[in-house]
Amino acid sequence: MSSKSVTRSQQQHKVFIASSDDSKICVVMVGLPARGKSLIAGKAMRYLAWVGIPARVFNVGSYRRHNTPQPQATFFDPHNAEGERMRRAAAEAAMSDMLAWFQAGKGVVAILDATNSTKQRRAWIHEQCAAADIETLFVESICDDEDLIMNNILEVKTTSPDYKGQDPELAALDFRKRIVNYEKAYETIDNGEKSYTYVKLINVGSTVIINQIKDYLSSRLVYYIQNLHIKPRSIWLSRHGESEYNLTGRIGGDSNISERGEAYARALPELLRKSGIPENTKIVIWTSTLKRTIQSARHLKAETGFEKLEWKALDELDSGVCDGLTYEEIAEQYPEDFAARDEDKYNYRYRGGESYRDVVIRLEPIIMELERSENVIIVTHQAVLRCIYAYFMNIPQEKSPWMEVPLHTLIKLTPRAYGTEEQRFKAGISAVSTWRGKGTSAKHQDYPENGQEHK
Ligand code: SIN
Repeated sequence: MSSKSVTRSQQQHKVFIASSDDSKICVVMVGLPARGKSLIAGKAMRYLAWVGIPARVFNVGSYRRHNTPQPQATFFDPHNAEGERMRRAAAEAAMSDMLAWFQAGKGVVAILDATNSTKQRRAWIHEQCAAADIETLFVESICDDEDLIMNNILEVKTTSPDYKGQDPELAALDFRKRIVNYEKAYETIDNGEKSYTYVKLINVGSTVIINQIKDYLSSRLVYYIQNLHIKPRSIWLSRHGESEYNLTGRIGGDSNISERGEAYARALPELLRKSGIPENTKIVIWTSTLKRTIQSARHLKAETGFEKLEWKALDELDSGVCDGLTYEEIAEQYPEDFAARDEDKYNYRYRGGESYRDVVIRLEPIIMELERSENVIIVTHQAVLRCIYAYFMNIPQEKSPWMEVPLHTLIKLTPRAYGTEEQRFKAGISAVSTWRGKGTSAKHQDYPENGQEHK
């Protein structure tokens, strides 16, 4: 390992961290059940982890489940004194763990995921946080769009541990009654809470009211949150078809796709159809500005007539002086760099080029745009795709650069209330494997057979 190169990586890391301020923030979710709060909380946490900010969700419902695993709707009636006591105990336990987490210096942003539906509860949270020098950012999700609420109820009745093993129809009925009970005591954030920093999201994404944002990190979070929507959709990810550079094991460049790459480009429209597209769904095609992705999406665009956008931000990680070399050549010509990259692949920046961390920073606007969009298919490059995949699947930074993302495979990601569902569809067209394990300079190999994944 070269100590000189590692120091360079460490410096890059510091520069990135120093770009955010030192504030500690508690994001306090507010809203009736089935308003997408957990979805927003989970996404915000993934986004923060992806940009390197330590964050954690404290879900009050999970604490409540310790003593009341599957309560009936009456438990949530504001006139049920015992229910009220248990719910308060759960909120206190979550608060106490959250304060201990901050105290231990583990985090920068905590997300308190609960209904926090009364002014009294919010005042208590604000007071507790202020005493511990933690900023609060209240995020209220208000929703009167029946379709969106129904969608959320369907998600909850099938995925929430509160209803596990129960008849789905009875679960939906009970959940509706739970909402009615919450409505009895619900108080929206209003002028009386003007001194708080808050965001009110009305029908997620359509109207946003922002009050008193004070620091950089909060404004960045608010910008992210205001781009979110909870309409059902999927994102498809594909690498370009096999390229001429792939065949010779060279990295970077702007080569054409190979014959097998062209076969993949022809197969892509059918592969997309086979992956399941609801009727009348419009999908937007995104590619990089490099030839191999544009060529790979050519038939898809021609056959479907879908709109297509080319993004410079989706171009492959810039390998600087190593552009056009094979891994063997890099190991031979730049042995110290080769070893330093293996040591910390996420932070290692190619001389005159980029690191994975740099790619994540340039992809941030792409993620914002993706969050605003509905159905999108992205045809891009290995490193870029690893970064985008890591965002959706919550893959830690030290793992994402080593993930195997095979050629000629379509990945379909569908956001759900409690995570992202993934399906993979192989085109069955052979291609080289461009995956390199840590500590090797393996030549690119053909997949064993018929485009199957290289293990
Ligand atoms: C729950 O017990 O499921 C949530 C408690 C709350 O946020 O009101």
